[in-house]
Amino acid sequence: MPVKQHHLLLIHGFPLDHTLWQPNMEALEHVAQVMAPDLLAFESAEAVPEVLTMEHLADQLKAQLDANGIQRTVLCGLSMGGYVALAFLERWPERVSGIILCNTRSIADTEEAKEGREATALDVLAKGSEVIARAMVPKLLSEKTRSTVPELAKTVEAMIARQRPEAIAAASRGMALRPDRTHVLRESDTPTLIITGENDALMPLATSEAMATAAPRSTLVVLPEAGHLSNMEAPDGFNSAVVDLLRTLSGA
Ligand code: MLT
Repeated sequence: MPVKQHHLLLIHGFPLDHTLWQPNMEALEHVAQVMAPDLLAFESAEAVPEVLTMEHLADQLKAQLDANGIQRTVLCGLSMGGYVALAFLERWPERVSGIILCNTRSIADTEEAKEGREATALDVLAKGSEVIARAMVPKLLSEKTRSTVPELAKTVEAMIARQRPEAIAAASRGMALRPDRTHVLRESDTPTLIITGENDALMPLATSEAMATAAPRSTLVVLPEAGHLSNMEAPDGFNSAVVDLLRTLSGA
């Protein structure tokens, strides 16, 4: 068995869990030691704070790396996971050997988006996770995916529905507080892969293009017909882009 040179930390989006990465695990475990934690389950049910900031989540990930003796990792964050990855890179660049930012953005929320985050928090606390799950799925998957792979919509809906409302509310409020971290990308010499879906309804292509322009050592991959969950919707293209980056890091 080849020695796995890289550690890969997969950071899921909102309000999901590690099973988001199910279509990627096998391919990526061939080339890296993979860790895929559940961000919304870090705190016990009684201890979920009112606000889960991106910095707090980055702290938790750093603690997991420390506990496992991992000195350097490749961060791979999708959407909210990308916000957390940038918060991590800002604090501990020496621990990051590469960064993969999927269907995400480096800029802060607009005032309108912040109000939407609070509305989502109040909604999930009042109505429960199932209601949020039903409302979100059409925005997360492209129309093409929903019509050709309807079972994926069910999988994603169930993934959201099983998250605790308190944790969803806290993460929604936390995302509203994140600052613009475009400067982190601009000042980083870390190899950077930016992946997005051609039909991502939540992150316009321009946000990925702007990150690719800001990061000095970047590659941009746009997956045809995929939506916001590009790793699930176009797993072959997604996996090969990640494997290519890992190979580049090894100098292969
Ligand atoms: C996510 O997928 O993590 C969210 O869409 C991120 C966001 O709402 O900004």
